[in-house]
Amino acid sequence: MSYILEEIINKKLVSIFEELGFDKKFAVVKSSDRPDLSDFQCNGALALAKTEKKNPRQIAEVIAEKLNMDNDFSKISVDGPGFLNITLNNDLIAKTMDEMANNERFGCATVTEPKTVVLDYGGPNVAKEMHVGHLRSGVIGESFRRIEEFVGNKPISDVHFGDWGTPIGMILAEVIEHDGNLDKMENYNIAEITAFYKQANIRCKEDEKAKEKARVITAKFQDGDEEYTNAWKHIRKVSVDAVKENYKELGVHFDLWLGESDAHKTCFDIKKIAEEKGLLEYDDGAYIIRLEEGNKPKPPVIIEKSDGGFTYHATDIATIKMRVDDLKADEIIYFVDKRQSLHFEQVFEAVDKLGIAPNVTMKHIGFGTVNGADGKPFKTRDGGVMNLCDMIQMSKDKVAESMPKAGGESGLTQEELNKLISQVAVGAIKFQDLKNNIASGYIFDLEDFANFEGKTGPYIQYAIARINSVMRKNADITAGKIIITNNEERNLALKIAQMSNVIMRSASEKEPSIISDYAYTLAQLFSSFYNSSPVKGAETIEIASSRVGLAKLTKDILTTLLYLLGIEAPEVMPKA
Ligand code: ARG
Repeated sequence: MSYILEEIINKKLVSIFEELGFDKKFAVVKSSDRPDLSDFQCNGALALAKTEKKNPRQIAEVIAEKLNMDNDFSKISVDGPGFLNITLNNDLIAKTMDEMANNERFGCATVTEPKTVVLDYGGPNVAKEMHVGHLRSGVIGESFRRIEEFVGNKPISDVHFGDWGTPIGMILAEVIEHDGNLDKMENYNIAEITAFYKQANIRCKEDEKAKEKARVITAKFQDGDEEYTNAWKHIRKVSVDAVKENYKELGVHFDLWLGESDAHKTCFDIKKIAEEKGLLEYDDGAYIIRLEEGNKPKPPVIIEKSDGGFTYHATDIATIKMRVDDLKADEIIYFVDKRQSLHFEQVFEAVDKLGIAPNVTMKHIGFGTVNGADGKPFKTRDGGVMNLCDMIQMSKDKVAESMPKAGGESGLTQEELNKLISQVAVGAIKFQDLKNNIASGYIFDLEDFANFEGKTGPYIQYAIARINSVMRKNADITAGKIIITNNEERNLALKIAQMSNVIMRSASEKEPSIISDYAYTLAQLFSSFYNSSPVKGAETIEIASSRVGLAKLTKDILTTLLYLLGIEAPEVMPKA
């Protein structure tokens, strides 16, 4: 039997429709638009009216008559022009809760045809500190990785490290400028290398000759020069280590730590395929693929620059070929700032022309920027780009204000407290990031998103911690069969029953905010239930144990939802 209420009702409707000779494609229900009138509604009679050439109310009445004979429904009514309103019997809702509670996945559906989905997120660059844009990409991508896995697909996440191209030449040139050679390279740590890169940026802006030097070194290094390659290996390693540290704190996981450099060899293949297909043009010293046909002409894709270096376009096209050939990707999804939309449109169109990814879905999910109070992309006080570590630290400082001190009454060791602060601070940042549509930007406002009240990560974490405390206080009562005795229990249970649909919709619409919305509503409904339905004061032991069961189910589901958003749920959450 299905655990999903819509499916249970649809099945019943289908057999009624068949019996009455109606087209069963209209035998579908959805959650009611008028929860005050019913739990579910079916608008099929309105659609049938046309083919049946009958009054829709009349059709609805006939169906209603049949539904009325079913004990799983407590009330059926026909309203308006022919809406069928369906109210469920509490027993059916309670039974669904029992089944969900006894199933590891809470009876959630999985996709019918599992796909291999390559997720491209993170995208940090060597020698550059990660900024808030890399945060959004990592946070959204990680949530997707978890959602895809939960619904039964096979996600493969790749960080696609920006580890190739001019920045490398610039750093090497700068070190040579400073030391006379690269002998000390191996001793430099990430902070020093980052400083060299900053310096190189300033120098190259002012000095054409310095720029030329960096370019020559880049070309040599890409050609495999041994000394430069060794230096590059060191730069890459320290950069990757630093990035790993950052993403670890954020709970962002990558299956693959490949980079632009890994696509270099395949770039030659791309050039060759383009040539063979007659797509490659030599234009003003560069090799390009034109994209001027169709209804939306775009600027050409540049494969190779006049200095012989492959471009960002080329590496992305080559990477797609590798993901298709080596990883057998069915889908490739990019989580990158929406300001790169044109880049991806060009890349996807070139890939289509080259025919290197037949039947593979490629999608760029562009996100909005993280903004300051002025609505412009977030900057630090001195006008610089906000880096990720500082942002996490700010959030931790804010969260620490609402937490007790270690020791004393809290009973927490400093280590436990630090872990808690990190879980809540990261949870706050992530929820903030995932609570709106991906495409929209948001304002970075700590007061707002680290608050324990309102639609925030800490609010949901707190709801879970509160349920844990209910369970501890009622440790003598085991979670039992669910019995619905009041409206608050009923509303909570009906919301719980939507879990599978919510997650499937979030996966197919590629929108984690559907899950964050749902988690928030669930936490609110739990709060009403908690205030109205005492465990200790319950009329019977059965009701008490049903309430413990419903609380536990809510907790387990909320924990899973937070997991899908990449957020941890602390066991306890003391407030200062
Ligand atoms: N490294 C790039 C940046 O910082 C992002 C990479 C995104 N992924 C990709 N396959 N292009 O802008």
